[in-house]
Amino acid sequence: MKNKNYIGKIKSIEKINNDVFKINISSSLENCKSGQFISVLCPNKTLRRPFSIYDFDKENKILSILIKLKGEGTKYLSSLKENDEINFLAPLGNSFELFKDKNALLVGAGIGIAPMLFLKKEMNEKNINNYLISGFKTKEEIIKGSDETIVGGSVLDNIENIIKNKKIDVIYSCGPNIVLKKLSQTAKKLNIPCYVALERVMACSIGVCRGCIIKLIRNNEINNFSVCKEGPIFKGEEVLWD
Ligand SMILES: Cc1cc2nc3c(=O)[nH]c(=O)nc-3n(C[C@H](O)[C@H](O)[C@H](O)COP(=O)(O)OP(=O)(O)OC[C@H]3O[C@@H](n4cnc5c(N)ncnc54)[C@H](O)[C@@H]3O)c2cc1C
Ligand code: FES
Repeated sequence: MKNKNYIGKIKSIEKINNDVFKINISSSLENCKSGQFISVLCPNKTLRRPFSIYDFDKENKILSILIKLKGEGTKYLSSLKENDEINFLAPLGNSFELFKDKNALLVGAGIGIAPMLFLKKEMNEKNINNYLISGFKTKEEIIKGSDETIVGGSVLDNIENIIKNKKIDVIYSCGPNIVLKKLSQTAKKLNIPCYVALERVMACSIGVCRGCIIKLIRNNEINNFSVCKEGPIFKGEEVLWD
């Protein structure tokens, strides 16, 4: 589906915890897939702000994002009220590849749980076996919906046992780069494909400015790829981590 510029309306905003809000947006967007994102225009800001799609209610055409307060853009978004207009580009980027007969492990760290919960919903609808493990620094930061939640420690502490015990065939993850890098290395060691959803600062979000380039090694060649258009989902084993 080609991306377009939408003017949606805020349907509702829910406070999930101290600094995370769920924003439900009503618009004419008809479809999107897990792993894709939207890019939102904030007043007086040149650059749009990218957010993963957290949920999509196709019947009622309601798109949801989870925003964690960071700077002025997210502060503005959290202050929106019902019926306020919201200008966004969607659906952006590629989406997660799904495999019907594979046992999937989903790993979300912090706000990285947002696209994982949408992926889990899609997998449940398609009867794909999945297990979602999430990690948060404190119990106040927990975002619900996982099969297992780690608080304090690393989401990766027991990951090899989980992969073996649950006979995992494929891994999907979103979170800080260090988590994605380590998880990709573990997956490579165990010979399991691992898809990672990357975050980069984005100026245009549509593949024009080349500001979000990363390097991948594919077929023994190193080449540049844009996170916003050719990503944000990549195979972890192909990413040249910093
Ligand atoms: C593909 C993608 C998906 C994302 N999904 C989510 C999500 O579901 N929920 C969520 O809370 N956040 C998500 N982020 C991060 C989110 O875009 C930033 O937190 C947000 O842009 C911060 O804007 P700000 O004005 O509040 O902060 P400021 O720090 O004032 O932003 C200044 C500039 O830096 C950029 N920026 C700051 N932090 C980040 C970051 N971590 N990643 C990319 N750009 C950043 C901003 O877009 C802006 O251009 C995602 C980022 C990407 C690239
Ligand atoms: S943000 Fe412009 S090319 Fe990706």
